[in-house]
Amino acid sequence: MIKEDIEFEYLVKSVSEDPRCQEMKQYIQHSDVTTFDHCMDVARRSFRFVRRFHIKCDEKALVVGAFLHDYYLYDWHTYGDHLHGYHHADRALINALRDFEIDEKVQGIIKTHMWPLNLTRVPGSREALVVCMIDKIVSAKETLNRPKEVKK
Ligand SMILES: [Fe+2]
Ligand SMILES: [Fe+2]
Repeated sequence: MIKEDIEFEYLVKSVSEDPRCQEMKQYIQHSDVTTFDHCMDVARRSFRFVRRFHIKCDEKALVVGAFLHDYYLYDWHTYGDHLHGYHHADRALINALRDFEIDEKVQGIIKTHMWPLNLTRVPGSREALVVCMIDKIVSAKETLNRPKEVKK
C-alpha cells in the first residue's frame, strides 16, 4: 500500500469503521454500488485529487465530509420520493450532526454537495467544491457502468 493510501485510510476510518456508517452497506446508491462504497469512492478520489493538484486544504474535513455526504441512511429507490435529489443532503446533515462531532467545514461539505441542483446551496470552501465535483463524476460513472440488464 502506498503512503498516500495509508494516510487516506487513517483519515477515513474514524467514520467508515463506525457501525452506524456500516449501515450504508445495506443501501444501493446507483446500479449495484452500495451507498457505503459510493461514499468511500468519493472520499478517496477527493483526497487523491487535492494531493495530485497540490490543493491546500483541511484533508481531515475533506475526507470526513466526503464520506458523510450521503449519510441519509435509507434506500432511495424504495423509501425516497422524486425529491430525493433535493432533500437528501439535509437528511445526511441531520444524521451526521446527531451521530458525530463535525465542524462547520464538514457540515458545509455535506450541505452543499448537491449544488447546482440545490441552487442556493453554493459550496463555500475548496473542500466543499472538490467533493461536489468528484461526487458528480463518481455518480455518472456508477450510473453509466450499471449492468446491461438494468439499462433502459
Ligand atoms: Fe448526494
Ligand atoms: Fe453522492
